[in-house]
Amino acid sequence: MIQMINVAVMGFGTVGSGVVELIHANGERIARGAGDTVRVKYVLDVRDFDNSPYADLFVKDFAVIENDPEVSIVVETIGGVGVAQEFTRRALSAGKSVVTSNKELVSEHGCELLKIAAEKGVCYLFEASVGGGVPILHPISACLAGDEIEEIYGILNGTTNYILTNMFKNGATFDKALAEAQELGYAERDPSADINGIDTCRKTCILADLAFGKNIAPDFVRTEGIAAVSAIDVEHVSTAGASIKLIGRTVRMADGKIAAYTAPHVLMSDNLLVNVEGVFNGIVVRGEATGETMFYGKGAGKLPTATAVISDIIETGKTIGTGAFLGWSEAGEEIIGDTELLENRWYIRANIDFDEAAVRFGQVTMLGCDENGAAFITGAMSGIRCAELLEGIDATTVYRVLE
Ligand code: HSE
Repeated sequence: MIQMINVAVMGFGTVGSGVVELIHANGERIARGAGDTVRVKYVLDVRDFDNSPYADLFVKDFAVIENDPEVSIVVETIGGVGVAQEFTRRALSAGKSVVTSNKELVSEHGCELLKIAAEKGVCYLFEASVGGGVPILHPISACLAGDEIEEIYGILNGTTNYILTNMFKNGATFDKALAEAQELGYAERDPSADINGIDTCRKTCILADLAFGKNIAPDFVRTEGIAAVSAIDVEHVSTAGASIKLIGRTVRMADGKIAAYTAPHVLMSDNLLVNVEGVFNGIVVRGEATGETMFYGKGAGKLPTATAVISDIIETGKTIGTGAFLGWSEAGEEIIGDTELLENRWYIRANIDFDEAAVRFGQVTMLGCDENGAAFITGAMSGIRCAELLEGIDATTVYRVLE
């Protein structure tokens, strides 16, 4: 009898259609990895795809998948919470493994869904939810599992990195760079989750959950996007050979709490991520034993993201019946560390002149001066100390600096 792993793909959008295409194109290689032939038995979508080469696979009723004992893996590429959460719960409860690219669902409800998966002895895997085609979650949970992770920071959003790169390389304004990203299909029609840092925040939470084993809820994570990054900051930061990047960062604090936040940072020319440009993502994991390990690649897009989904299908295929699962424990606000205790240098643009900057902050590196004040980089200090020194000053821009 021919062995078969039957898969149902829910959501035939960019990623879902990529998964179906890759399974058909790379069937033999995928079968070697998974141990059995992987077959797409159903595609669930509310829309009609009559002209698709996969037209005969389409169903509109989730119950068809839920009640088919042959389906062992469900791919959820619907996105959002709503039906994606309901169908994931039901699929796991029906004893099917689920793999997904849905960072919103994983960051907000991953803890609950992983619990159901563990109870049922099936997998809930989500490699594609962070870093697109960049393998990062499996390396954290498996390859680096013998190390104590201290910090993870990364450029986790391709859209905003494309916009910032365009501002730095071509002198584009934020609005022009965003319009270009939309024309090229990098930015969504509603790019607010990217621009406002929400997408990066969700991915940061998933990294923190996996690395530190505690649920870090997006609601507790301070999130700042890139809409306020101005041409004048780009000019000042460029004079230092540095760049501005939207960074998601999570750190294990000395008291055991987990600090996590998303914000634009100034990256100095020696930083590992300073040359991560365009839609690419880059992630640095710092472990006690390993030191820094960097991951780099395409953080978005149909086939890169579909490849990550397929790696989870293969992983699930290998572990069917073994009850292997990931997980992290529930936690509330008490686990969240104070990001203002983290020490680093600061990029500041404020309505003071260079002399006053030096008096207040001690040794500073001057980047530029105009009628509105000075732009400078301070020495290393905590956010609390920086806020004290800024008292009474009208600071337009305050970004952390990563060396
Ligand atoms: N909108 C996301 C990005 C897609 O630009 O990175 C991948 O998660």
